[in-house]
Amino acid sequence: MRAAMADAEVGDDVYAEDPSVNALEAEVAALFGHEAALFAPTGSMANQIALQLLVPPGEELLCDADAHVVTYEIGAAAAYGGISSRTWTSVGADIDPEVVAGMVRPDGYHAVPTRAIAVEQTHNRGGGGVIPLGTLRDLRRVADDAGLGLHCDGARIWHAHVADGVPLIEYGRLFDTLSVCLSKGLGAPVGSVIVGSAEKMTRARLLRKRMGGGMRQAGVLAAAGRYALAHHVERLAEDHARAARLAEAVAPFGVLAAPVRTNLVPLDLGKAALDAPALAAAARAEGVLVSVLGPRIARLVTHLDLDDAGVDRAADVLTRILRG
Ligand SMILES: Cc1ncc(COP(=O)(O)O)c(C=O)c1O
Repeated sequence: MRAAMADAEVGDDVYAEDPSVNALEAEVAALFGHEAALFAPTGSMANQIALQLLVPPGEELLCDADAHVVTYEIGAAAAYGGISSRTWTSVGADIDPEVVAGMVRPDGYHAVPTRAIAVEQTHNRGGGGVIPLGTLRDLRRVADDAGLGLHCDGARIWHAHVADGVPLIEYGRLFDTLSVCLSKGLGAPVGSVIVGSAEKMTRARLLRKRMGGGMRQAGVLAAAGRYALAHHVERLAEDHARAARLAEAVAPFGVLAAPVRTNLVPLDLGKAALDAPALAAAARAEGVLVSVLGPRIARLVTHLDLDDAGVDRAADVLTRILRG
């Protein structure tokens, strides 16, 4: 990947003149069967640009209460887009499209009009759960019936593709906009891509510049992303298998919050002797990193830089700590 970055041909991407960025955008658009795509520095910016494309200021987005777009993006939808958000009770990837349909508010002179629905594939706080294709199709019908946009926060859509075997193009055809990350499971240092129609991506380019995301010789970053797409998608199955092994190791302690589907292992320490910060501190002291998502909620992640020996070591350290 570093060699690909060093070799990248570059230009000024603010003027759409960086050949490596242009190639990445064309590749990702084609993967999802859309007309166009736009490189963005982060998944958060990619999501927020997409939401601004779908929801005008003062109008409404529906998503789940644990969605990254309303949990971890520092109120950006409201702060930058003037977007009003309403959430369904989080069920992670286990969404009931009828519940979502029941939340839609019509146009008129009285209520905030609903303009778009956002879902997260895979679901981060939902423990890496995969929304089934049938549910997504039903959500598309809900969106069509109500004239709404449908956005996919696909930071880890590659994991869903590998876990469920759903072609990326199948996902692509269901959404008006997707944001996909190159910098998480795929292992690129930086970068996300927004996907949609050519008209939407023209507007997205303006929104990206307005948000300070217009980059110049970004081809070195795009080259890393292209390398990641070529070499690091199918291998995600290894990360999933390693996550399953970690889950198996900690399950006897009653801390597994949900069955593991992809590369995230969600921990519920509600009944454990130690809380999430205590577990994370004890593990960190032994070189194992654990994400704290709440006082008693934590997350383990497997990734490109973790091999079988690393998983064994993490499992040893965590089981020793949990045993007390
Ligand atoms: C589901 C999801 N969406 C979006 C993002 C945002 O990505 P970034 O950290 O590049 O802004 C993340 C980051 O963890 C995520 O988990």
